[in-house]
Amino acid sequence: MESVLIGFGHWLQTRAFATSIAESDWAYPYVQATHFVGLSLWISTNVALDLSLLGIGNKSESPAKLSSALFVWNWLGLAIAITGGFLLFSVNASMYVTNVAFLTKLGLLIPLGLAMHIFNQWKVREWGLNPEMPVAARIAGLTELVLWVGVASAAVSIPYAA
Ligand code: HEM
Repeated sequence: MESVLIGFGHWLQTRAFATSIAESDWAYPYVQATHFVGLSLWISTNVALDLSLLGIGNKSESPAKLSSALFVWNWLGLAIAITGGFLLFSVNASMYVTNVAFLTKLGLLIPLGLAMHIFNQWKVREWGLNPEMPVAARIAGLTELVLWVGVASAAVSIPYAA
């Protein structure tokens, strides 16, 4: 399995788009910035919804209204983050596919965070029918927050992990 992943990584990082980022003097920081711009949008809009599910912050806006107002920015942020993340990955793919922090981030924590986020966006309307956020909504909001902190922690550990 590992040799298949390394073979794929090697194939990806020798594509023309990946070698041109690696060889350019300026492209890599712009690709990093793309990842971070997307993440800023994605994480900030996620945190806004999760805090609102926890009953923290501006209560004049219901969590369901907040969720639909932020919906487009939220998913646009993820699309930009994935584009930047994929390009960063492509530059050094054969290293990332064996990096335990990267594998934990991409293979475990992001799928769990995404699943939790989709669940929260789907349930927020139903939860909003109550005058107070139900306990389940608070637990779900907190769980999603913890998962994104976990994703960011795994991401910053990538350079130190084998
Ligand atoms: C959607 C949730 C994501 C979050 C919260 C996230 C978070 C981060 C953070 C905080 C860093 C900065 C690490 C540092 O410079 O210290 C980073 C870097 C990186 N991300 Fe993501 N990321 C996400 C998605 C992705 C995806 C989908 C991919 C790949 C397809 C990806 C690939 C990368 C790569 C390759 C790096 C550079 C790691 C390094 O060598 O230091 N990320 N990410």
